[in-house]
Amino acid sequence: MENGKRAQWGSNFGFIMAAAGSAVGLGNLWKFPYLAGKNGGGVFVLIYLLIVLFIGFTIMLGEMAIGRSTQLSSYNAYRKINKKWSYVGAIGVIAGFIILSFYSVVGGWVLNYLYQTVIGGIPTDTSAYFGSFISDPISPIFWDMVFMIATAIIVFKGIGGGIEKACKFMMPALFVILVIISIRAMTLPGAGAGIAFYLTPDFSKLTAGTIVAALGQVFFSLSLGMGCIITYGSYLGKEENLEKNSIIVPFLDTLVALLAGFAILPAVFAFGFEPGSGPGLMFITLPQVFDKMPLGWIFGTLFFILVLFAALTSSISLLEVTVAYMQDHHKWGRTKAVIVLSLLMFLISIPASLSMGILSNVQILGNNLFDFLVLISDILLPLGGLLMCIFIGYVWGMDKALAEITNNGKFPFKLKGFWTIMIKYIAPLAVIVVFLNALGILKL
Ligand code: PHE
Repeated sequence: MENGKRAQWGSNFGFIMAAAGSAVGLGNLWKFPYLAGKNGGGVFVLIYLLIVLFIGFTIMLGEMAIGRSTQLSSYNAYRKINKKWSYVGAIGVIAGFIILSFYSVVGGWVLNYLYQTVIGGIPTDTSAYFGSFISDPISPIFWDMVFMIATAIIVFKGIGGGIEKACKFMMPALFVILVIISIRAMTLPGAGAGIAFYLTPDFSKLTAGTIVAALGQVFFSLSLGMGCIITYGSYLGKEENLEKNSIIVPFLDTLVALLAGFAILPAVFAFGFEPGSGPGLMFITLPQVFDKMPLGWIFGTLFFILVLFAALTSSISLLEVTVAYMQDHHKWGRTKAVIVLSLLMFLISIPASLSMGILSNVQILGNNLFDFLVLISDILLPLGGLLMCIFIGYVWGMDKALAEITNNGKFPFKLKGFWTIMIKYIAPLAVIVVFLNALGILKL
């Protein structure tokens, strides 16, 4: 709220940059390439694309409609429509908290890698360096703090002057850098093997695990299932076309994820590294790739600037979900909300960071704290998405949702039939099947 009136995006372009900024993040640049590397390359990419097309679009549009209709952030949006469902909004606020507490840890790693790349401080044994850096009790927490302060400053400046302005600069810059790096990677001698691995689906690698991983990744990457798009949608005016927006945002997010694969996998193959090396792909393999590449110092620096921009435009959306909740529900001012919440998230992120080192013995269900937080978010997001589908289809009602999307018939809604079937039946069913399978109750 600014001057008692709800803040609004300055333009639809601003909203798209902010929503795409939320979506494009570490999920695209860090997780997607290594998940693809681990889960059979092209098959994973194909399944991922199908889920984005069918489920990603459906849920994105549903969230935008709830947010714009109520002009409230997620908890209060659900509550306004049906009090009994406010807990779904609450799940989102909690998920925002949890995600940012581990996200800021990795954001801090990115800052450190950017700094070290600029000063030439990454030793040749990148694997040993990564291990010793993340398990250090001080340095990663320092960078985590810097990352949280940067996030807090942008959110503090508000919707138009902070989030929108930052995303309108960082997102196009990110895109240009990514294109430059992809071209560089794909023209390396020997890059062809990486491109082939990435584009050729090998169906023998298709397992239930691939589908579970792809579904979780779609929710995380598109920022769905936790009220982020509801919150951003609540700052949208009635004259904007929601159908178009919910095609453009997943399109941009997917484009960046695919390009990230093109920027990373060919280079990994060209220098003879393993694509399935997991989470260390960005921090262990890539610095070696840059080290071997002509002018690698410049490309390395550009690369980590790109990752930093992506991470920041996502972390601000995570913080905004919780800040908007405090503003809408508890009538806190923005300044107080930003200071208290970012401090609290930073405090939770400290044990998450330490769980890579001195607290690595503390295990919850076989995971260290960091992995446990990731696991919870992997459950909460699809759960939030499932409940949202049921909410729209059977509680709020399709007629009201459709009236919001078309602004009472002023906009055509070409995908109306598709969206209705998807949100009422297919999307919730798909999430349930994947859940049951992950729990081992149903074997795909
Ligand atoms: N979509 C972000 C990414 O890909 C992460 C995120 C998840 C942001 C949920 C907001 C909400 O990195």
